[in-house]
Amino acid sequence: MKLTAEEQKMLDGQYGKSVQKSMEILTSLGDIYGAERMIPVKSVHMPGSSIVVAGEAATSFVEQMGENETRFAAFTTLNTGAMDMDRPQELGFSEETIARQERLTGAYRRMGGVPCHTCTPYLIGHCPKFGEHVAWGESSAIAFVNSVIGARTNREGGPAALAAAIAGRVPAYGYHLDENRRGQFLIHVEASLSDIADYGALGYWVGTRVESGVPVFTGIPADVSTDQLKSLGAALASSGAVALFHIVGVTPEAPTLEAAMGGNAPKETWTVGEEELRSAYETLSKQQGQPVSLVAMGCPHSSLNEIVKVASLVEGKKVKTAFWMLCAQPVKHLAERSGHAGILEEAGVTLVCDTCPVLGAMGEPMEKIGMTAMATNSAKLAHYAPGQWKIPTYYGTTEQCVNAALKGVF
Ligand code: F3S
Repeated sequence: MKLTAEEQKMLDGQYGKSVQKSMEILTSLGDIYGAERMIPVKSVHMPGSSIVVAGEAATSFVEQMGENETRFAAFTTLNTGAMDMDRPQELGFSEETIARQERLTGAYRRMGGVPCHTCTPYLIGHCPKFGEHVAWGESSAIAFVNSVIGARTNREGGPAALAAAIAGRVPAYGYHLDENRRGQFLIHVEASLSDIADYGALGYWVGTRVESGVPVFTGIPADVSTDQLKSLGAALASSGAVALFHIVGVTPEAPTLEAAMGGNAPKETWTVGEEELRSAYETLSKQQGQPVSLVAMGCPHSSLNEIVKVASLVEGKKVKTAFWMLCAQPVKHLAERSGHAGILEEAGVTLVCDTCPVLGAMGEPMEKIGMTAMATNSAKLAHYAPGQWKIPTYYGTTEQCVNAALKGVF
């Protein structure tokens, strides 16, 4: 790689061991992927922010990198953690989890990381602009920031994101370059889409087919919402490893089909109709008959809009199951101010912040609930939860899941 004089000094250790180590990680990555240079990044979203994925070795590594007053060179937010940081005991997290998570969060915070612990940082003020180079982890956030916002990131893992935050740059390869952002697969959507779960089912069906490719969608209504787009991206990144998608007439790099494909001929073309959508629902909702003990929504973390919708569905009623709506702390704060959190609480719905059933130490609170089956409107959660927690999972629309909570059965 061709480094600037400043980058060479960083690599030579003139700015301390952590900066040097970071540059070693980044130049090694650059060599592996054939990058010719580094590019500065405006921001980082840090994966590896939960002790469920960052074990003792990774926590010690983060602490070591923060020695000698190392500070992040780029604005950095922390992804979802292992517990609700404000009321871990109340929700049933163990003292050991609390101590370990506080240790990891503290290590990032001392370097300047913002401990928002959410996978939707773009909903709470960490929102890059079109074309900006960033280094983000967390697959659903990556898909959103690349596709919906049009900023540029690769799928950063923990060590690379930490190195990018400290060095303030990344090697220029992958989705940072125009040629890798062009569409590769063409998806004509004929199914009618309404709830966020429909978009999750669509993303799930497509993700299994395109894997890590770049799909281009036609036929998605121009008034698709931010919540529907985050559901689509999260599902594409769960059944597949999609980091970038385009929707003709909707996302910023796809004003036309020609612009989205950038001269590429599609490797394959599919049409997604009602039957394909139904098959995705069936794949995600295999279980039948078990009573539901938990309804979980907000994977990716809920927007205020989603909270308002659920509040309108449960107002004046009482749920029979545990019901978690996951969200970022500032979103919960606004829901409290607007009165929607109170409506949810009255109905028995809990706003859980900073964590989720995939990256959280959820075995502990789930044991407290006594799990029989879970219902969710998130394709990502329905994809991971049965394997991770061995719980039967139902997948349905927001209304179906609310009804499951009210009746105790799906
Ligand atoms: Fe977010 Fe956890 Fe889902 S990190 S996208 S709520 S699996």
